[in-house]
Amino acid sequence: ILNQSLGSNLVVPDFKEFVAEIKKLYLELSDFKGGANADYIPQLSRANPDMWGISVCTIDGQRFAIGDVDIPFCIQSCSKALNYAINVSELGPDTVHKYLGKEPSGIGFNQIALDKHGLPHNPMINPGAISCCSVIRPKDTLADRFDHITEQYKSIAGHEFIGFSNGTFLSEKSVADRNFAIAYFLHEHNVFPKETNLKETLDLYFQLCSVEATCDSAAVICATLANGGECPTTREVCLSPDAVRNTLSLMFSCGMYDYSGEWAFEVGLPAKSGVAGSIFMVIPGLMGICVWSPPLDELGNSFRGVEFAKRLAQRFAFHQF
Ligand code: DON
Repeated sequence: ILNQSLGSNLVVPDFKEFVAEIKKLYLELSDFKGGANADYIPQLSRANPDMWGISVCTIDGQRFAIGDVDIPFCIQSCSKALNYAINVSELGPDTVHKYLGKEPSGIGFNQIALDKHGLPHNPMINPGAISCCSVIRPKDTLADRFDHITEQYKSIAGHEFIGFSNGTFLSEKSVADRNFAIAYFLHEHNVFPKETNLKETLDLYFQLCSVEATCDSAAVICATLANGGECPTTREVCLSPDAVRNTLSLMFSCGMYDYSGEWAFEVGLPAKSGVAGSIFMVIPGLMGICVWSPPLDELGNSFRGVEFAKRLAQRFAFHQF
């Protein structure tokens, strides 16, 4: 267990008390089994279902980690929150929201649907995420687009582990009929910018879903979001405060798919789940938490990760933060 604080001017009080509860919950849930690995992407189905890690980073750089926290996993849909935050930071909300909405969809993350304005409902589901990728430097080469975004990921993660699983990228691309159908549906409804290369945009989307993090590096990502866009471990300003505010709002309302309403009621924190079993959680103004346990519930969220968050919220009533 790593519990290191940076100096005496701690912003997060009682961190040790908070950490003690997290450790207790980690142990409580170690035998809490249920759900199943995502199987529509072959590489994800082969992950070790017993992996279980929790990592915390506070906005003043205090760290705690327990379990499988240095094992790489694909961030999958957690990338959607980052892509949106980076786009809004670079292009402004008005430009980004020409191509996607701000509403929960109330349907599955990979359903083919548009909102009442003819736009994807929000950036946290596949239609919105693909649309969000279409506005990432559309005139650049795919390689430059990927490098640009992943350099931002590395800054937001405090230059801690950010990797890439080419196997998962190739695996996902080989079984992507649904996402191709979504993309062509969006193209049919003129959602994308004119210069969009649809196949390259889909490749970019699959590649960013195949970016890897660990619980530890993802906790820094979440702490940067908790800290208004400034990375707490490097003090680098990575995202504009407005972009972070927008991102946290949409993580709160849409980040857990059609469990988002119940999540807001039971947990009350901005969060984003991924089908490799990660949940990025943000306590604004305090800390970021990443939990990772591959087996998913029927809605596509980590079975054990959701239970962890619900029990943590019962102890710390986050709605008061
Ligand atoms: O496009 C997909 O289906 C995956 N690359 C991402 C979906 C995902 O992570 C949903 N999260 N729970």
